[in-house]
Amino acid sequence: MLIVAVANTKGGCGKTTVATHLAAHFAIKGLRTGLADLDRQQSARAWLDRRPTEAAPIADVDLDVAAGKTPKSLGKRLDRLVVDCPAAMTKDTVKDVVRQAETIVVPVLPSTFDEDGTLRFLKHLMKLKTVRTHRRDVTFVANRVRARTRAADRLEAFLAGLEFPIAARLRDSQMYANAVAGGLTLFESGGVRAQPLRDEWAPLFALLEQAVEPAKT
Ligand SMILES: Nc1ncnc2c1ncn2[C@@H]1O[C@H](COP(=O)(O)OP(=O)(O)O)[C@@H](O)[C@H]1O
Ligand SMILES: [Mg+2]
Repeated sequence: MLIVAVANTKGGCGKTTVATHLAAHFAIKGLRTGLADLDRQQSARAWLDRRPTEAAPIADVDLDVAAGKTPKSLGKRLDRLVVDCPAAMTKDTVKDVVRQAETIVVPVLPSTFDEDGTLRFLKHLMKLKTVRTHRRDVTFVANRVRARTRAADRLEAFLAGLEFPIAARLRDSQMYANAVAGGLTLFESGGVRAQPLRDEWAPLFALLEQAVEPAKT
C-alpha cells in the first residue's frame, strides 16, 4: 500500500482539494483506495458522504492510531491511502504521519502568509531524520496559481529556494469548488473545459508512481 499524506500547517492552502483529487484519481484507475480525514473539520469525510454511489469507490478510513487502527493494519485491504492532514498538527502528529507515509504532498498558495506558514511546517519536517535523508519524499503543489502574475513568479522563486521539488502547478479555478460540492473531482466532472486543469496533475501522478516503483539506479 502506498500512503500519501497531504499536509501543511497553513490552513486553506488546498489540502482537502488535493487529497480528494488524489483519492479519486487512484480510485478511477481501479486501485483499492482509502481516504483518511485527520482534520477536525472533517471536510474530506463530508465530501465522501456527498459522493454519488455510481462514482469510483473510495473507502472512508478511520485512522485512530491510539485505538490500534494504523495504516499498516490496513495494508492488505488497500492499494492506496490518502491522508488529509489538519492545519493544526502537533509535533507528534507530524512525526506520526511522516513515519507512515511514503510521500508528503505540501500544497502552497501564492501569498507571503503561506510562505511563512510553509517555512514553519518545513522546519518541523526537517527535524525528522527520515525527511532529512530523503527517505521520505516531500513535494510541493503550487496551488491557485494565476499564470504570469507577480505572485506566481514570487511563489516559484520561493519554492525554488527550498530543497524539495514542485510536482504540480494548479491554476485557480471555480471548477474545483463546483466539482467537490457534488462529491466529485475534476477527473469526473467539468467536461472538456476541465481538460487543461486535469493535465496539470500529470507530473504529480508520475512522481507518485515512482514512489510505488522506485527507479532502479
Ligand atoms: N486550485 C484551486 N482553484 C480555486 N479554488 C481552490 C483551489 N484549491 C482550493 N480552492 C478553494 O480554496 C478553499 C480552501 O481549500 P481546501 O482544499 O479546503 O484547503 P485546506 O484543506 O488546506 O484548508 C476551498 O474553498 C477550495 O474550494
Ligand atoms: Mg481541509
